[in-house]
Amino acid sequence: MNFEPFELERLLSDWEQTVEYNFAESGVYPVKLGELLHMSGLEMEEFLETPLNYPEVNGEYSLREKIAEFYDGANLENVLVTVGASEANYILANTILKKGDEIAVMQPTYMQFSGAAKNLGVKVNSFSLDKGNDWALDRQELIDAVNPKTKIISLVNPNNPTGKILSKEEMEAVVSIARKFDVWLLADEVYSGAERASVEETPSFYGSYEKVIVVNGLSKAYGLPGLRIGWVVAPEYIIKELWKRHEYTTVSSSMLGNRLASLALKPDVRRTLIARTRHLVDHGFETLQTYLNEIPGVFSVVPPMASALSFTSYNLPINSTDLVHKLRREKGILLVPGDCFGLDGHLRISSALPQEYLRDGLSRMNEVVKELAP
Ligand SMILES: Cc1ncc(COP(=O)(O)O)c(C=O)c1O
Repeated sequence: MNFEPFELERLLSDWEQTVEYNFAESGVYPVKLGELLHMSGLEMEEFLETPLNYPEVNGEYSLREKIAEFYDGANLENVLVTVGASEANYILANTILKKGDEIAVMQPTYMQFSGAAKNLGVKVNSFSLDKGNDWALDRQELIDAVNPKTKIISLVNPNNPTGKILSKEEMEAVVSIARKFDVWLLADEVYSGAERASVEETPSFYGSYEKVIVVNGLSKAYGLPGLRIGWVVAPEYIIKELWKRHEYTTVSSSMLGNRLASLALKPDVRRTLIARTRHLVDHGFETLQTYLNEIPGVFSVVPPMASALSFTSYNLPINSTDLVHKLRREKGILLVPGDCFGLDGHLRISSALPQEYLRDGLSRMNEVVKELAP
C-alpha cells in the first residue's frame, strides 16, 4: 500500500527536538502550565483533585458549551472536541471523502487535509493565493478547481504559511462558489486570534452557508499545543458521522486537556492569552524584518496579517530543502522549506519567540546567507 507521509510534520519529527534554534514550529512560544493556572486563578489543590478518567468522549459539556458560544447559531450538538485540529481534519477527510472524489484546495497551505485526501484516492485540484498580488485569492482558479466530482473546498484562514487573511469580499466569493456548486466548505481557522496587533480578529466562516464545517483548536492562537485540544463545528448529522470515526481513532481527548481548555476559554483568561500571542507575533515579526533587511536584495516577504509565520522568498542559488538542511547542519537552526508547500525559493520562518533566542538564531542564519548571496 502506497501511503504518502506528511512531509512537513516528518521534518519536524526528525529534527525539532535536537536543533538549537527551532524556527519551524507554527505556533507562538508555548504557555507554561503554571502560567495558565495563574491566569485562571485556580488553586493548585483544586486542580489536583481532577479525576484522571475519560472525559465525555465528544468533549466535556462545559467545554463544548464555551466553544459553541464563539459560533453564531451553533449549540452543543454542533461541536465535537478532538485531539488537536489534526484529528479533526483527518476524520473529516475520512468521513466526507471516498476514492474517485475530487477536492479544491487553497495553495499554498498546510498540506494535512490534501495529503489525507490523496491517501484515500481523492484527486486534489488547487487554487492559488497570488504571490504577486499580496496573496490575494485567485477567484478564477477557484472556479476552475471545482467540478461536479468536487466534494469540498478546503482552505486555511488565516493562512499557513502566508499569514494572509481573506477579505470580506474574498470570503463572500468563496461562499458563493461553494453554494453555486453545492459543495462543502471546510475552513481551518486555527490561526484566528493570532492576528498582528494592528489587525482585526478574523471572522469565522461558520453560519455563512449551510454546508460550512469549521476546524479550530488551542495550538496556535492560544499558545497551548501540548494540551492537544481541537474541535469541529458542523451540522449535527456531520458531527454524528465524525463521532463514529473519533471512537475508532482516539476515543476521546484527555481529561486534563478538557479541563485546562475550559480554563483557557474563560473570557478573562482568553483575553490574556490572545494579548500574549499578539504581542509575541508583533514583536517577533519586527525583529525578523530587521534581520531580513540586513542583507540587501536577498529576502522579500509580504508582512503576514496573522500567525507567527512569515513565508519569505529568497534570491539565492540553492533549493529550499538543501538550504534548510545546510542551516540545520552548520548552524543548528531549523526552518521549513518552501518545497513542503510546493513553492521552492521560499522559507517559512516562525518568529513569535523570546527575543534573545530569535536574534541569536537569525544572526546565525545570516552568516550562511552572506556566504551564499550573489
Ligand atoms: C492549518 C493547521 N491546521 C491544523 C494544524 C494542527 O494543529 P493541532 O496542533 O491542533 O493538531 C496545524 C499545525 O501546524 C495547522 O497549521
